[in-house]
Amino acid sequence: MPVNFAASFDRRNLLRGGGALGIAAFLPRTAAAASLKVPVVDALTLTVLTDSGTFGPFLSDLDLPGLKVMRAGNGMPQGNSRMSDKTLMGEFGLSVLADSKIGPAQRRVLVDFGYTAEVLANNMALLGIDPASIDASVLSHGHLDHYGGFAGVFGGDAQRERLLPLYVGGEETFCERVAMIGNPPPVMGTLDRSALRKAGYEVRIAPDPQLVADQAFTTGIIPLETEERAAIPTRMRPGVGCDQTSLREDKRGQSEVADDGEHELATCYAVNGLGLVVIASCSHRGVLNSVRRAQVISGMTKVHMVIGGFHLVRPRTAEEAQQTVDAFAAMNPDYIVPMHCTGEVFIEEALRRFPGKIIRPYVGTRLQMG
Ligand SMILES: [Fe+2]
Repeated sequence: MPVNFAASFDRRNLLRGGGALGIAAFLPRTAAAASLKVPVVDALTLTVLTDSGTFGPFLSDLDLPGLKVMRAGNGMPQGNSRMSDKTLMGEFGLSVLADSKIGPAQRRVLVDFGYTAEVLANNMALLGIDPASIDASVLSHGHLDHYGGFAGVFGGDAQRERLLPLYVGGEETFCERVAMIGNPPPVMGTLDRSALRKAGYEVRIAPDPQLVADQAFTTGIIPLETEERAAIPTRMRPGVGCDQTSLREDKRGQSEVADDGEHELATCYAVNGLGLVVIASCSHRGVLNSVRRAQVISGMTKVHMVIGGFHLVRPRTAEEAQQTVDAFAAMNPDYIVPMHCTGEVFIEEALRRFPGKIIRPYVGTRLQMG
């Protein structure tokens, strides 16, 4: 049974005697709980490759404390004398490129692939991103709007000599899913391992926190340690597309089970002098749980940026979205970048409460830190 988020939130709030979650809720329990030596990067730039919206050429760049925001307009290179007949494209999906640096060592990590290969390939080409420059990739979870575009990087038949490492959080990434979004609920499909290999990826299943390309780290399985519940709008079919003997015991031998997002990962960085940057992707285990996990692993409490889809839409409620805004007020990250499935309730309320912290992503936006 999922925890009743609203009930537990109210009870704990009463105990604390406050309207918002106490900051103690976000502190790692012990430094000893950290299970990975997390590298501290000197600089990090995130580029939004796929998200819902584009904005065109009218948004200004921003120079903020600890963050430069650079807009990409239509994606047309500077200095062109004619407008391009191509433009950046938005879709229901998420993909973020992370460029980090420690001293002279630069690393490039691709987090998720969006929904379609066409959009990812189009946006990468317009933004001038050479696929061969990517060192590693992470797939946050086995949903089509995050893996569907994987062939957009090297093509569907890449025949690469060097396969790109692709970190996933568990075997259940590959199980067939049914989306609870219609009547009858449509089959979402499966992520095909042989198609991944053909498209140039080498799958690495990593349910524990994992260093990625020496400079990033994944959360591994995200425990439900805050008031947030797991909220996933899919059901999973053990044994269809995945090896059910590799799944948790209670999920084996069943034709269909509720999805609990056990395999879902966040991808994170520790940035020198600024704090943690957490790329939450879709937050089906909860964006607060994801941040907390990054804090425990790294032993760092300061959060510089939380970016991604926070999934504060159904099956979560508007009340839960409001409560998450309260929790962000207590966490006090420097910046929040709500993408993809975050939902309007959170965005509107967060803009009202702390407008200076909210950065709207838009496809092609680059967020430069350090
Ligand atoms: Fe998603």
